[in-house]
Amino acid sequence: MEKVLVNFLFLLIVNSSFSYKPVVLIHGIMTGSGSMEMISHRIQEKHPGTIVYNVNRFEGWSSLETMWHQVLEIGLDIANISAKHPEGINLIGYSQGGLIARGIVQTFSNVSIDTFISLSSPQAGQYGAGFLHLVFPGLVKDTVYELFYSRVGQHTSVGNYWNDPYHQTLYEMYSVYLPYINNHIKSAKTDDFKNNMLRLKRLVLIGGPDDNVITPWQSSQFGYYNGSEAVVEMRAQDIYTEDRIGLQALDKANRLHLITVPGVNHFSWHMNVTIVDDCLLPYLD
Ligand SMILES: *[C@@H]1O[C@H](CO)[C@@H](O)[C@H](O)[C@H]1NC(C)=O
Ligand SMILES: *[C@@H]1O[C@H](CO)[C@@H](O)[C@H](O)[C@H]1NC(C)=O
Ligand SMILES: *[C@@H]1O[C@H](CO)[C@@H](O)[C@H](O)[C@H]1NC(C)=O
Ligand SMILES: *[C@@H]1O[C@H](CO)[C@@H](O)[C@H](O)[C@H]1NC(C)=O
Repeated sequence: MEKVLVNFLFLLIVNSSFSYKPVVLIHGIMTGSGSMEMISHRIQEKHPGTIVYNVNRFEGWSSLETMWHQVLEIGLDIANISAKHPEGINLIGYSQGGLIARGIVQTFSNVSIDTFISLSSPQAGQYGAGFLHLVFPGLVKDTVYELFYSRVGQHTSVGNYWNDPYHQTLYEMYSVYLPYINNHIKSAKTDDFKNNMLRLKRLVLIGGPDDNVITPWQSSQFGYYNGSEAVVEMRAQDIYTEDRIGLQALDKANRLHLITVPGVNHFSWHMNVTIVDDCLLPYLD
């Protein structure tokens, strides 16, 4: 009898001492929370009891609103969610949603993220027809800088992370988002941007060579074109060697995970159960 009771108490303790942290999902451009449902269901199926918050702001055309606007609005929601879960939360952003998520991580010191997973997001920017033609089928990547690198062009999210390797001076002059959160341009927020990033327990960057939208695909892992369109991988970029936002420190502490998966098209990452099982679930605890 006593043994049964002890076993029962033991089980009670084991069961109550572990629970998965809540997960927040941020969808990609020109879609909405519906596109993230598969990930949400799979997490709840494999990690029972997980609370999933699937962000439904800025769906469809409104996903083109400026990056800062989306970061600040969604960030306030996540700050509220975070306040309800002092044990910490996990954050997953897909495509543009992963770059919004990074802005939130770096901006909100009252959001406590354990693991941030960036699922095929243009973290180092975008220079290619892929993203461009999703939204602006008529535009050409070689000349679109004339539009994006202007006050008007910065009123759209894609303009905020358009990174034309041949027009870096204009990028620095006009882009109001990417060069700032990358601490490529110094600002009053530079220290906060880095320190908040370093509060992450884990940063997971997922991408792959058959993405066909993120261009270059290495941008999903902070690699990017140099001035003659050759790809320079993350560890040879200034953002890493000068540790501008903490990537090197996270890496040295084994808190940075780069995951490269071939054979996955950009529109499949969030629809592919194997990706969820192999690349997302192992990092969600
Ligand atoms: C956050 O919570 C506060 C207090 O409960 C509430 O007043 C506010 O509207 C919430 N903000 C958002 C963005 O949900
Ligand atoms: C989080 O911080 C922002 C300012 O950075 C503030 O506006 C917001 O009210 C805070 N939210 C919570 C829940 O503390
Ligand atoms: C870009 O990198 C390639 C390969 O390392 C190199 O040959 C080229 O000179 C570099 N271009 C510039 C502008 O730095
Ligand atoms: C799903 O992902 C796996 C790799 O995890 C890949 O081999 C497979 O081709 C993908 N399927 C689709 C439809 O993209």
